[in-house]
Amino acid sequence: MDFPIVPHPAPVPASERNARIVDPGFGRVFTDHMAVVRWSEAEGWHGAEISARKPLTVDPATAVLHYAQEIFEGLKAYRLDDGGLALFRPEANARRFQASARRMAMPELPEDVFLGSIEALVKAEKDWIPTIDGGSLYLRPFLIASEVFLGVKPASEYLYMVLASSAGSYWKGGARPVSLWVSHDYSRAAIGGTGDAKCGGNYAASLVAQQEAIRRGHDQVVFLDAAERRWVEELGGMNIFFVFDDGSIVTPPLTGTILPGITRDSILQLARDAGLTVREELYSIDQWRADAESGRLVESFACGTAAVVTPIGKVAGPDYAFTVGSGATGQTTQRMLDTLSAIQRGRALDAHGWLRRIA
Ligand code: PLP
Ligand code: COI
Repeated sequence: MDFPIVPHPAPVPASERNARIVDPGFGRVFTDHMAVVRWSEAEGWHGAEISARKPLTVDPATAVLHYAQEIFEGLKAYRLDDGGLALFRPEANARRFQASARRMAMPELPEDVFLGSIEALVKAEKDWIPTIDGGSLYLRPFLIASEVFLGVKPASEYLYMVLASSAGSYWKGGARPVSLWVSHDYSRAAIGGTGDAKCGGNYAASLVAQQEAIRRGHDQVVFLDAAERRWVEELGGMNIFFVFDDGSIVTPPLTGTILPGITRDSILQLARDAGLTVREELYSIDQWRADAESGRLVESFACGTAAVVTPIGKVAGPDYAFTVGSGATGQTTQRMLDTLSAIQRGRALDAHGWLRRIA
């Protein structure tokens, strides 16, 4: 499927664009264009184009506004040292987008259309990639139920779009060890629910817990499993890893309640490559606390596309608080961050063929 470009009639002037991308933070600076594809029962996927990013006009009875039939993805485009452009494992995002669509009874976007939309948009908007350290173009593909109908059923019409956003650090003030609040009251996902789909509703459900974490002076919430309130699952938008003094590393298994992160999968592979013993197994909050206190646990970190690899310094719950290691960034955390970033930016051997060069 081709993505013809319908140019923006009045794009942001270069001087203004350059000012906006000096310190873009995350999720606030958007480019001039977006990708669009429509789906209907009669026509299937059609109407692909790259056109001006502008407000949508939707009927107030549009299905997504009522029943949240919506999925999204998040991936980044990087500028390489030789001036080229690359995406990191976009095929994995395309497949996860299809898996999310199946869970939400939505049509599956073909992988080549997903990749085509992203490549066309990145090529059109490459000047929006910040040149600052850690800069990238964050891509947000999403699919919404666009049928105007208040009956509860899978919609008969959908709208797929991709936004591009200049990104620096996800964290205000740059990366530093974060402090986590363990929610013992709110769950993110249960068995049979939508925890392993990337749907907006999961994030809506996480907000009150995240709000509580902030109110209590922490950066992020960490969720426990819904059934036993015992097993550590993930953060609101990141997976989690534990590093032990014997050189082994543990992350919760994909049981259906956590998002199968592409960063998570990449770190598992990089850890194996580095000769670490890797285990995907359940890890309880009580064990985490005991291991941190005994010194058996030396590091913990969170990971995801937006936040990359983020050290966890402190953890607290209703009647406990502990520090992980020295509270500073650990060796393995730093090594994973450096190795992953170097591959993403084309500065290290890409042994697993993860980088997709598009220019
Ligand atoms: N967990 C959740 C709930 C997320 O939203 C994300 C972000 O996409 C991740 C984990 C990490 O996934 P990935 O590494 O594919 O970005
Ligand atoms: C990402 O890391 O891409 C995410 O989607 C996390 C968050 C911004 C929702």
